[in-house]
Amino acid sequence: MPTTTWNRHHVISLADFTTAEYNTVLQTAASFQEVLSRRTKKVPTLQGQVVANLFFEPSTRTRSSFELAAKRLSADTLNFAASTSSMTKGETILDTAKTYLAMGTDIMVIRHKEAGVPNAIAAEMDRLGVRVSVLNAGDGQHEHPSQGLLDLFTICTLIDSNHPRIELLAGKKIAIVGDILHSRVARSNIWSLIASGAQVHLAAPPTLLPKLFAQYIYGEKTDTLNGQLFLHWQLEPALQDADFVMTLRLQKERMTAHLLPSLREYHQLFGITRQKLQLCKPNVKVLHPGPVNRGVEISSDLMDDPEFSLIQSQVTSGVAVRMALLYLIGSGKT
Ligand code: CP
Repeated sequence: MPTTTWNRHHVISLADFTTAEYNTVLQTAASFQEVLSRRTKKVPTLQGQVVANLFFEPSTRTRSSFELAAKRLSADTLNFAASTSSMTKGETILDTAKTYLAMGTDIMVIRHKEAGVPNAIAAEMDRLGVRVSVLNAGDGQHEHPSQGLLDLFTICTLIDSNHPRIELLAGKKIAIVGDILHSRVARSNIWSLIASGAQVHLAAPPTLLPKLFAQYIYGEKTDTLNGQLFLHWQLEPALQDADFVMTLRLQKERMTAHLLPSLREYHQLFGITRQKLQLCKPNVKVLHPGPVNRGVEISSDLMDDPEFSLIQSQVTSGVAVRMALLYLIGSGKT
């Protein structure tokens, strides 16, 4: 493992991540990627610790990869799903968290459909004076930091698999396309990509990319953008000479109004296809955090084409990156 200082107790957002922290995660994940390529894929690092996956909203990738990551580190895992829990009898979120605390949980991995829930639980753990860490596994339209970190790792390891580091993205053009308004993935990726020195081009219909988006997410921090964030209401200028294209799921479950005339028109204008990729650099790669609406945000054939698609690599990277986060957060506890 890389020798480093890691002082972060919770991971709620990438907004205040430093370059050193990004590189610590990337290098630690690279070490675990090597562990995962061995015949015996398990290390005793978190033996005796308890990792509780508290998922108040559905998930396939994030929950399974956090569980596998914890098991690869030899932690004991607890899995919670709101629909089969005592929340159906009226138990509150905080009382649920305190119940897991009473069972000796060391790390809580939390997903919720409302922004701010992981932060509220972290604040309560701090108020109680207990050494329980909270990892945000996606909260509403706020952030999805482990997804942002695994996307960063996927891209950086493609460029230099031996020594992935955030500086590798300096000057690269990265397009983020789709339902940016509702996307916590975009909100985490924008932070890491801006920190890397990349040029970040957001493209969506105006209903999914309001003009005030940059101001809305950055507020008084607009001075940190360094002229690196660009907003487009057409796809083509974002794709022109792009090195990477991140396409996002249309989050129909979060749409409270009819924001699009039709899915067919959306695919025609903003769906990523082989033909549209001809605007990009010749060796462009496409990412999608999943789950995918095939034929809507990306054509089905492109999604399955390993020459362009990094979607399966993202899922694979997720285990190593989540092992890195659990290791960095948990290694100071025993
Ligand atoms: N990318 C992502 O968060 O997927 P899941 O909802 O399946 O966890």
